[in-house]
Amino acid sequence: MQSESDRASPVCYAEQADAAYMGQLAREELLAALDELLEAERAGARVAEETVAQLQDPAERALMEAIRQDEVKWCGMLIAAIKSLDAKPGSRTGAFHGKAMAIADLPARMAFLNRGQAWVVRKLEALVPRVKEAGIQDNLLAMLVAHRENIDRVEARLAAAGKP
Ligand SMILES: [Fe+2]
Repeated sequence: MQSESDRASPVCYAEQADAAYMGQLAREELLAALDELLEAERAGARVAEETVAQLQDPAERALMEAIRQDEVKWCGMLIAAIKSLDAKPGSRTGAFHGKAMAIADLPARMAFLNRGQAWVVRKLEALVPRVKEAGIQDNLLAMLVAHRENIDRVEARLAAAGKP
């Protein structure tokens, strides 16, 4: 049972009305997170594209091409989400691209790409519950699920090839 002084506290009501109190992101925070993910996905798409061109094994090529298409799809989703918030998407590609392409050994590069995808998963796991825009939240959740699936597919492929 609340005391008279608790009910009268203006701080109590202010907190209830404030979305940030519930852990939801303000527009600028969400935009920063979306731009960071866009840079990462652009890097992932380029790494996948350049790796597809170097792979010989048809199954590995098909897998990397599917991942490239996914990365391009999420770039498009993130750009649309940023625009829906009346902001301009950035054009940068994450430094991850250069780091990945410096790895000449293709299985090692695919393993590195998977670690980048796992970073994206961790970012999304923290982000999704805090997004109050339902449409953006749904799309980020789909991106999270797809990334988990792709990580598993690449891990299985590398394990089958005896190259963890
Ligand atoms: Fe990705």
